[in-house]
Amino acid sequence: MKVIEVAHGGGTYPVYIGQGLLTTASVWARHVRGRVLVVSDQTVAGHYLSRLQPALAAIEHKERVILPAGEEQKTLSNWQRLIEELVALGAQRDATVVALGGGVIGDLAGFAAAAYMRGIRVVQVPTTLLAQVDAAVGGKTGVNLPAGKNLVGAFHAPHGVIVDVDTLSTLEDRDFRAGLAEVVKYGAIRDAGFFAWLEQEADALLARLPDALMEAVARSVANKAEVVVADEREAGERALLNFGHTFGHALETATGYQRYRHGEAVAIGMCLAARLSEMLGIAPVGTRDRLQAVLRRLGLATDLPPELDPEALLDLMRLDKKNAADQIRLVLLHELGQAVVQPCPGNDIKEVLRA
Ligand SMILES: NC(=O)c1ccc[n+]([C@@H]2O[C@H](COP(=O)([O-])OP(=O)(O)OC[C@H]3O[C@@H](n4cnc5c(N)ncnc54)[C@H](O)[C@@H]3O)[C@@H](O)[C@H]2O)c1
Repeated sequence: MKVIEVAHGGGTYPVYIGQGLLTTASVWARHVRGRVLVVSDQTVAGHYLSRLQPALAAIEHKERVILPAGEEQKTLSNWQRLIEELVALGAQRDATVVALGGGVIGDLAGFAAAAYMRGIRVVQVPTTLLAQVDAAVGGKTGVNLPAGKNLVGAFHAPHGVIVDVDTLSTLEDRDFRAGLAEVVKYGAIRDAGFFAWLEQEADALLARLPDALMEAVARSVANKAEVVVADEREAGERALLNFGHTFGHALETATGYQRYRHGEAVAIGMCLAARLSEMLGIAPVGTRDRLQAVLRRLGLATDLPPELDPEALLDLMRLDKKNAADQIRLVLLHELGQAVVQPCPGNDIKEVLRA
């Protein structure tokens, strides 16, 4: 088992990464106390809820809320339902919310814990690769409104994060690969050694070998933790995490959020940003090819679908990150392992979208 301590405002919390952690009662005993509300979705609960029995056996007052799976569940009405469950459970300030699932469950349950009695413990137990390397670390919680995603929320650091990589064995291929895109992102923006490791271990990762998974999650979490801490001191570092995302959001919006998983769109967006970096002379020629090669080996598409109109995509990017004159602030690469935020001219972006 690897343990990474993540620092935040007032303290630190541990992220445990290992195999069999859902049933490792000693880890759970450090973080679960008071009355306990377990929140999960039907898919995850079907696979893994019963494994929590040993960890929670000694807890006398506990309840569970199992929601249907899917982004549509990240709503204020489900948030209210969790709050009402906590009231019915008689939860006091020492109560614990356990979020067992992907980023949807983590964000929703985390936000309920953030608000109930102005903040109770949440233990994040992420079960998708995306949630393990991203959503469960950093303390962002929230829900969607009809007017937009993540419009209401709060920062609420978890008390602990329990990553059992065994849970990844049941994840659908597309969800797994979409998570790998975010893993590659950490290497590309700030960790050249990790990027080289990913190039070497792509096959082991695709085969979901536990050692490779633990290493990939641990190095991703360590990178995210460093960015989040740095951002508390000097605002801006966190923006680097948006590498590939401005292009990716435009692509998701243009295709009505139906065609791509978030990570799939980000993979294409990262390749566009790398190509733009080369075009502007910021990154050496060959940067994009290397990034594209590793993403392809991990089973991710790296090209824009030809039928999308570059002008329409550019308009969507302008909406996403409006900026002075005809400039859009983007995360670009100096090289693989080093990123920079920079305003880019609309015409250059359009050229990349056309290529
Ligand atoms: N808080 C943050 O910092 C942050 C960061 C990134 C993303 N997010 C949020 O995360 C959400 C996306 O997360 P996600 O991709 O994990 O989505 P998700 O929670 O919807 O999970 C994706 C699918 O995988 C299923 N699943 C989960 N674990 C499984 C397992 N082990 N085996 C089989 N199936 C499993 C789920 O039931 C679901 O159908 C979005 O709402 C996004 O806004 C938050």
